[in-house]
Amino acid sequence: SSKGSGEKERTLGVIKPDGFSGNYTERIKEVIVEYGFNINKEMVIQLDEELAAKFYAEHSSKSFFSSLIKYMTSGPVLVMILEKENAVAHWRDLIGPTDAGKAKLTHPQSIRAMCGVDLEKNCVHGSDSHQSAEREIAFFFKETPSDEAVEKHDEL
Ligand code: TYD
Ligand code: MG
Repeated sequence: SSKGSGEKERTLGVIKPDGFSGNYTERIKEVIVEYGFNINKEMVIQLDEELAAKFYAEHSSKSFFSSLIKYMTSGPVLVMILEKENAVAHWRDLIGPTDAGKAKLTHPQSIRAMCGVDLEKNCVHGSDSHQSAEREIAFFFKETPSDEAVEKHDEL
């Protein structure tokens, strides 16, 4: 397993349209480097509706889905592979809670508190598990996904 002690793990970080156009990229990258992540690969991409909907497929039945897709396609995003020990959990800690408005109160040092606005416009994405991370990395960087990521994806 890639979670063994001393071994690096990868996660997917995305700076969403408002974070990217709001010139938060350099500050966010400073935090990333300060906390010991290596930015393995990065890419700026303008998502279309189809790609955004595929990326957030798990939320397709939610009431906020169409608004989320509109937000995610409103401008370019910066997609990054972040690598360090325990990267998935550490990156989720660093970005803070989903609701950026609440993050400002409860996690003022978090990235979402720094650049997010509310529950939807929270300026960054982080994979929620090791399996999600490998699936999302493959989704953006066209890698051959690992067997466990494929299995997980097929369950959806
Ligand atoms: P989710 O996966 O629950 O949050 P996270 O990004 O912290 O893993 O939801 C995906 C995105 O959907 C979230 O970043 C912002 C948006 N969203 C809403 O717009 N409204 C909501 O009520 C929720 C839960 C999420
Ligand atoms: Mg999520």
